[in-house]
Amino acid sequence: MEKNFVGKSAIVTGAGSGIGFDIAQQLISEGCQVLINDIDRDLLAAAADRISGGSALITLAGDAGNLPLIQQMIDEVVCHFGRLDIIIANAGITSYGRFLKFTEDQFTDLVNLNLRGSFFLAQAASKQMINQGSGGRIIFMSSVTGLLAHPYLAAYGMTKAALKMLARALVIELAPYGITTNAIAPGAVATERTMSMTPNYDKIWGSYIPTGKASQPSDITRTALFLASSDAEQINGQTITVDGGITGLCAVPDDIDKPDEE
Ligand SMILES: NC(=O)c1ccc[n+]([C@@H]2O[C@H](COP(=O)([O-])OP(=O)(O)OC[C@H]3O[C@@H](n4cnc5c(N)ncnc54)[C@H](O)[C@@H]3O)[C@@H](O)[C@H]2O)c1
Repeated sequence: MEKNFVGKSAIVTGAGSGIGFDIAQQLISEGCQVLINDIDRDLLAAAADRISGGSALITLAGDAGNLPLIQQMIDEVVCHFGRLDIIIANAGITSYGRFLKFTEDQFTDLVNLNLRGSFFLAQAASKQMINQGSGGRIIFMSSVTGLLAHPYLAAYGMTKAALKMLARALVIELAPYGITTNAIAPGAVATERTMSMTPNYDKIWGSYIPTGKASQPSDITRTALFLASSDAEQINGQTITVDGGITGLCAVPDDIDKPDEE
């Protein structure tokens, strides 16, 4: 295993399971020091056991949309590891619902975590990175639902579209400090959550996705670690779509004229 992140420190939110867990595990195995966060204390403790990162891993349970907790994450990383280099603003909730029935409480929960949490984590991290004077990497977790309309995900898709714009907008104020801001837009990813919601998740999505399969968390992890690496220093303000090609397709009627096969 190449140790690409020795001497670096990162925060990964929502890392008790799914994509965030996988990113944190890989960062640790590549020499990074990592603080993992999750709102579910037991899940977080179990994740820390599975990663077994020794002194390179610390945990902080709590709501990643809460501003005092965000500042605590920064302070603990600096206290334990001496510096902060990478932010993976991964925590996000996916709230399905018909637009005409979507409640204010659902909306508030969604915006508090997906937007407020990501925005203020980036802000608090940037202040620390600017003080250190050696740049940094901020990665937001957007979604293909922020690029194309998906059924019953109007509010969620709106938050994910906003994260794509946030990654782009922050370039103006953070690039002068050597901090890059990018986002990842995953398509269907087979995580504990998505597989529990949809039996045969991979088969069902595989029949739509041009590559014939849903993404795995490791597909998102490789993209995140590339964006977090020194190899990506000129990639800034971008959103990288990882979806097996599905957002490249345009829906067309089945009965359009097709050219002969030969
Ligand atoms: N899985 C997919 O298909 C997919 C597709 C596109 C985008 N995404 C995005 O990727 C990110 C991770 O997705 P996932 O499917 O791995 O997530 P997930 O739903 O499995 O959740 C990951 C973790 O976040 C934690 N969490 C929930 N609320 C939290 C809060 N307020 N504070 C801190 N932690 C909290 C959960 O306990 C869980 O362990 C999310 O932002 C999601 O919107 C996922």
